Amino acid sequence: MTKNESPSRDELFAALENVSLAEARAFRRRLKKARAPKALQEIGTEIHAAAERVALTDAAVPAITYPDALPVTARKDDIAEAIRDNQVVIIAGETGSGKTTQIPKICLELGRGRRGFIGHTQPRRIAARTVAERIAAELDQKIGESVGYAIRFDDRVSETTAVKLMTDGILLAEMQRDRFLNKYDTIIIDEAHERSLNIDFLLGYLKRLLPKRPDLKVIITSATIDPESFAAHFADADGNPAPIIEVSGRTYPVEIRYRPLEFEAGGKVVDQDPLDGLTEAIEELMREGSGDILCFFPSERDIRDAMEAIEGKKWKNVEVTPLFGRLSNQEQHRVFSEHRGRRIVLATNIAETSLTVPGIRYVVDTGTARISRYSTRTKVQRLPIEPISQASANQRSGRCGRVADGIAIRLYSEQDFESRPEFTDPEILRTNLASVILQMVSLKLGDIEQFPFIQPPEHKAIRDG
Ligand SMILES: Nc1ncnc2c1ncn2[C@@H]1O[C@H](COP(=O)(O)OP(=O)(O)OP(=O)(O)O)[C@@H](O)[C@H]1O
Ligand SMILES: [Mg+2]
Repeated sequence: MTKNESPSRDELFAALENVSLAEARAFRRRLKKARAPKALQEIGTEIHAAAERVALTDAAVPAITYPDALPVTARKDDIAEAIRDNQVVIIAGETGSGKTTQIPKICLELGRGRRGFIGHTQPRRIAARTVAERIAAELDQKIGESVGYAIRFDDRVSETTAVKLMTDGILLAEMQRDRFLNKYDTIIIDEAHERSLNIDFLLGYLKRLLPKRPDLKVIITSATIDPESFAAHFADADGNPAPIIEVSGRTYPVEIRYRPLEFEAGGKVVDQDPLDGLTEAIEELMREGSGDILCFFPSERDIRDAMEAIEGKKWKNVEVTPLFGRLSNQEQHRVFSEHRGRRIVLATNIAETSLTVPGIRYVVDTGTARISRYSTRTKVQRLPIEPISQASANQRSGRCGRVADGIAIRLYSEQDFESRPEFTDPEILRTNLASVILQMVSLKLGDIEQFPFIQPPEHKAIRDG
C-alpha cells in the first residue's frame, strides 16, 4: 500500500498477526463493520501502534541462558519441543530441579509471551514475587521489565512485560473480566500437585477453554506424584493423554536426620517438650557450620512460642524472622533481606513450596500443619493440626540444599514418616461442598455437576451441599 492510499481490509486483517491477541479480537470486530476509507485508515494507524507495542515487548527480551547444573536445563530441548508440538504439557520433577525458574524462560525462547503474557501461577504471594525477582535477575533485568508480577496490593507489570507471575487467586479473579484469558498466550500452572481449590478450579476452567483457544498453550508443573492424573485430565479430543516430561535428580543433596520427640531412655519412653526438641535441633545444626535455618510450624501461635523459646536461649549473633500468611508483603519479604550473623526463619507452610531463600542451609520440620477439614457430622469447617504427608515433608526438606548441600532435621521418627500418607488429599475432598458451590457461583464457573473437575466430588455430597 502506498502512503496516500487507504489500506485494504484484507491488508489490515493480515496485519492483526502482529498485534496482541486481546487487541486483535477488538480490531477484528471493528474491521468487520468498517467500510469508509477514512475509517479503515484510522484503524490502520491504531493497528500500527499496537504492533509497535508487541515489537517493543519482543525487543526487550534478552538472550536466554540457563544455569548448567539444573536438571531441567539438561532436558531443555525435549521440553521446548513438547511445548511447541502440543497444546498441553505436563512437567514433573523433584524439588530444586528448576521447573519454576526455567520453564518460563524456555517459553520466552520459543517466542511466546509477546502477543499475550506467559502467565505463571503460584499458590502464594511470597513465591509469586520472589520467583519473578529470580527470573528477572537471571535475565539480567530489573523486575517489571520482561518479567513482572501481580499479587494483592502490588502490581509490577509494564508495557514490555512478557512473563507475569501471580497467585492463582489473581488469575481466577481476572477470568471474571477476561473469559477467554485473551491477555495470555501461555499459562503455566505451577505446583499443581498442591491441588488447592483454586488450582482445581483453574484446571477445570482451562480444560473447557482449550478448544476455544487453540493458540493457547498450557503447562502444568508438579512434583513427581501422580502426573498421570493431569495428563488424563487434559487428554485431547481423541482421548490421548497430554505428554508428560519427567525431570529427574536435584542439584545438591539434603541429608535427612530423624530426631523424634518421643524416644526410649533407660528402658522408658520419654516424651520431650516440643520446644526443647526444637532448640536442641537448632543447636545441633548450628554446630554443623554457618548458614541460616528454616523451621516449619503449624500456626502463627506456635511461631510466637518458638520465638520466645529461642530468644530465651540468648544465642549470640542469631536473629529470628517470622514468616506467615497474615504478614504484609513487605513483612514477608524480610526473609530475603541482607543480614549479619545467623538467621532463623520460623515459618508456616507458606514457605513449603516454590521458595528459594538463598542463605538457608538447614531445615527443622516439626511435622505438622493446620489442614482445613469439613466435618460432615458436626457440619463445621475446622483447621485441625495434623501430621503432614510425605510429599509435604519432602517439600519442606527441599527448602535447603538449593545453593549448597543441606541438612534437614525431622522432629519425628522415620517410622512415623513411613506410615504417613504419600500426599495430602486435594482440598475439594476436604471442604464443605456448600462453600465450594458458593465460590463457583461467585467465580461464574457454572453448574458444579457439569464442571470438568480433575476429581469430581461425589454426586451425593453435591446434593447435600
Ligand atoms: N532466589 C534464588 N537465589 C539463588 N538461587 C536460586 C534462587 N531461585 C532459584 N535458585 C536456584 O535454582 C534452583 C531451581 O529452583 P526452582 O525454583 O526453579 O526449582 P523447582 O524445580 O521449581 O523446585 P520446587 O519443587 O522446590 O518448586 C534452586 O535449587 C537454586 O539452586
Ligand atoms: Mg517450583
